[in-house]
Amino acid sequence: MTDQPHPPTAPAPAPALFTWEFATDPYPAYAWLREHAPVHRTRLPSGVEAWLVTRYADARQALADQRLSKNPAHHDEPAHAKGKTGIPGERKADLMTHLLNIDPPDHTRLRRLVSKAFTPRRVAEFAPRVQELTDRLIDRFAERGSADLIHEFAFPLPIYAICDLLGVPREDQDDFRDWAGMMIRHGGGPRGGVARSVKKMRGYLAELIHKKREALPAAPEPGEDLISGLIRASDHGEHLTENEAAAMAFILLFAGFETTVNLIGNGIYALLTHPEQRRRLQESVARGERDLLGTGVEELLRYDGPVELATWRFATEPLTIGGQDIAPGDPVLVVLAAADRDPERFAEPDVLDLTRRDNQHLGYGHGIHYCLGAPLARLEGQTALATLLTRLPDLRLAADPAELRWRGGLIMRGLRTLPVEFTPTA
Ligand code: HEM
Repeated sequence: MTDQPHPPTAPAPAPALFTWEFATDPYPAYAWLREHAPVHRTRLPSGVEAWLVTRYADARQALADQRLSKNPAHHDEPAHAKGKTGIPGERKADLMTHLLNIDPPDHTRLRRLVSKAFTPRRVAEFAPRVQELTDRLIDRFAERGSADLIHEFAFPLPIYAICDLLGVPREDQDDFRDWAGMMIRHGGGPRGGVARSVKKMRGYLAELIHKKREALPAAPEPGEDLISGLIRASDHGEHLTENEAAAMAFILLFAGFETTVNLIGNGIYALLTHPEQRRRLQESVARGERDLLGTGVEELLRYDGPVELATWRFATEPLTIGGQDIAPGDPVLVVLAAADRDPERFAEPDVLDLTRRDNQHLGYGHGIHYCLGAPLARLEGQTALATLLTRLPDLRLAADPAELRWRGGLIMRGLRTLPVEFTPTA
């Protein structure tokens, strides 16, 4: 060996984004962006140009920056490209005037009203129901010895849970499952089945809210459903209008559905491909402990969370993120999945460590739009994982991980199917 210096190595070329390989494992591309182009302008598959923010510090700052509006009216795309982003607010529908599409002061007022109805206490009281739903779904395949955990478990659990919480009657819940399934399968695209499903959901919710308002007793009753709570909620004499209540019910369904499907799907997949971590969690759960389950679900959210990119933001004035100038009207996408693997913030970010404590991940966002449903998501995620590991202790993947297909959507990250095997149980 000589002491001669190495010739300088050229930086690796910029990775291709939004390809099939990228959908399968976006993390190497995000690592490259974080290092070489932390605030990166790119053309999305829809043709729209947007900034991707990938470093943790920049991401956290951008999420809290009120100069970045959530109102799609601030988007300066030429008219011909409008409607291509899949931003729900681009469609002219009153259901879309919801929390994720509005700014203060409207956002402040609506969020305060919904927070009065959607309380952590209401979620905690719902725990036995989530457990019952989880068990009922596992009962359906436990004797078979095999299942697709996305279709038979991760998909139905959140939709039935949120329908129950809202107060959608049982006999109507399968309609909701089908409408929501249409939205997942075909993304946020404005045309065809998705638009029809949104329309049906809007009509149904408007009627349900109207009926519940007519039948509302004078005082809250134990176990009152969330829609009745929303109708009842008031602040300085202000109530939600029927339309606002419908938009709120819709965003609770929409924001609480695919996210939770993916928390369960990505979470189980990560456990099945990290046997040592899975063994520790399984033993801890068997001892009746909750600690590792709590830190574990947070770590699964950081390591491979359901929301890959936060929802759209638009610059309302010239601003700078991570040294990069952003012009008014420019769309900004905060890449939560990249920020949550930033080595500047997390020790050994690519390692799954269920005991990780210093874990202020951005999986639920940050700032005024921080996930309203985080307590419910935690309850569902913890119940689902603990129950599966307890009832099907030798659960294992029934496919080569390389063969599994990931959904290629822009905002969410999740598996299409998750085939598993286990010893059948009665
Ligand atoms: C907002 C993630 C489950 C309701 C958000 C945001 C994220 C997020 C990242 C912020 C988006 C942004 O700033 O652009 C998640 C994850 C979940 C989950 C990872 C599951 C693991 C739920 C559930 C519900 C819910 C179960 C309700 C039932 C909402 C609502 C907002 C929101 C209403 C908008 C809040 C606002 O704008 O003030 N969520 N979510 N989420 N989430 Fe969740």
